[in-house]
Amino acid sequence: MCEWLEQACFYEIYPQSFYDTDGDGIGDLNGIIEKLDYIARLGCNALWINPCFVSPFYDAGYDVADYCKIAPRYGTNEDARRLFKKAHEKGIRVLFDLVPGHTSIDHEWFIRSMEKKKNEYSGRYIWTENPWEHFAGMKNITGYLNGICERGTCAVNFYTTQPALNYGFAEPDPDKPWQISPEHPDARATKEAMWDIMEFWLSMGCDGFRIDMAHSMIKNDEDGKETIKFWQEIRRRLDTKFPEAVIISEWGEPDRSIEAGFHMDFLLHFGPSHYNDLFRDHPYFAGKGDLSEFIPYYKMVSKKAGDRGLICIPSSNHDMARISRHLSERELKLAFAFLLSMPGAPFIYYGDEIGMRYMEELPSVEGGYERTGSRTPMQWDRTLNAGFSSARTQDLYLPVDPEEDYPDVATQMSDPDSLYHTVKEQIRLRKEYKSLHNYASVTFIQDGTDGKSLVYLREGRSGRKDDSVKILVAINPSKEERIIPLEGLRTDQLIYQCGQVSAGQDRIEMEGESAAYFTVRED
Ligand code: NOJ
Repeated sequence: MCEWLEQACFYEIYPQSFYDTDGDGIGDLNGIIEKLDYIARLGCNALWINPCFVSPFYDAGYDVADYCKIAPRYGTNEDARRLFKKAHEKGIRVLFDLVPGHTSIDHEWFIRSMEKKKNEYSGRYIWTENPWEHFAGMKNITGYLNGICERGTCAVNFYTTQPALNYGFAEPDPDKPWQISPEHPDARATKEAMWDIMEFWLSMGCDGFRIDMAHSMIKNDEDGKETIKFWQEIRRRLDTKFPEAVIISEWGEPDRSIEAGFHMDFLLHFGPSHYNDLFRDHPYFAGKGDLSEFIPYYKMVSKKAGDRGLICIPSSNHDMARISRHLSERELKLAFAFLLSMPGAPFIYYGDEIGMRYMEELPSVEGGYERTGSRTPMQWDRTLNAGFSSARTQDLYLPVDPEEDYPDVATQMSDPDSLYHTVKEQIRLRKEYKSLHNYASVTFIQDGTDGKSLVYLREGRSGRKDDSVKILVAINPSKEERIIPLEGLRTDQLIYQCGQVSAGQDRIEMEGESAAYFTVRED
């Protein structure tokens, strides 16, 4: 286990939209450096920065053209080095976003691999050598690219501008020579090239990576076994050479990803986790729906992960609607009371701490489509462009929220009742009490089914006993008062509350839409 993860609290930054220091209408690395104090003051001590490498930006940078070079619009490699250094001085770790499953069509590897004549990159992508032979029904291949060169059809990992890198197939079909095994020299060479990239940034001071589409490495890998092996080897190398570095997967199935060696995995808006039941669709935290599917899934994956890895529930991310889309300000406070008191490392998407809005029906920018509405500039204050940039408003990467009452950092900092201060206080408590740390265990007392509240006990570190005081968390998102029977537990101090909450000998009374954290008395 990597010790610093015990208390890590992440802040995700979409670099295009965080803070622009050179007035070109787009955020940059120097902008992140300038705002490190803001992040530290909020209480976050780790960053995940979306891809900031050279790219044609057909998919906002998830289509990399040079993995080892910062895109000029964000700055230089020297700026990245300075960012690592300055962040470390403030106790903040920095994860970059690594996209190992595909490159952009502009990457030199792909350009060389299109050549008919065999060269060092011929096997870096998956080519059928026949323009009419495609990949229908093959797991982890989303489509194909054909007609662009003599070599025929190339497998695609996401958009057609993102050809899939070749790490091999789980069960290669002997009649299809382009299906190679993960041990084939071409597949090994691709893996080595990706490891070199990891080493490049880690040696410069980067603290690890969020791994894009981590489940997608090996093709036709029905049960994920070969992909699990793939990552286990990377993890062994990291443990040997960069033991402090961490990897978090975009996999969304912790029962597989933690076994694969990831330190952390997300629960996501797609996949089996029922994440949407919390904050979206029929959000539990808006007093609708229930958690009858989420909680059993959560318990199952937590049991499998045990002490080996963290299950992370993000507030939102750059691919889904912001958490504020379906929740009122009060409901957001309850949702954060949950997010910041659950095990796993918290991940706060920039701007969620002030309730930035999802902007409906924005025209798509850089392949964002409906995701574009979650990617608008951070709103710092009430000056030009909400303090994001000095560029002309029409030159911004995306428009800022046009509503007069748009939420902003400066206003919320000066209002003690704001969402910003609520989130900050919840993070502070999470740090103060060991039982709220990332690896400490959770036991559900009421599990949010049948209109019930969500009540759980946090204690010690899972699998180990320590002397930390236990914390009882109770959240009542319904509109009605709820009485929570305590059955053998005795509350001590009320350390956090949102709304009216009172504790008696054997029960807690909570008004509608309220939340509380109590220390628990041990007799
Ligand atoms: C997942 C990323 O989060 C998303 O933004 C991107 O479009 C796809 N992977 C493809 O890389």
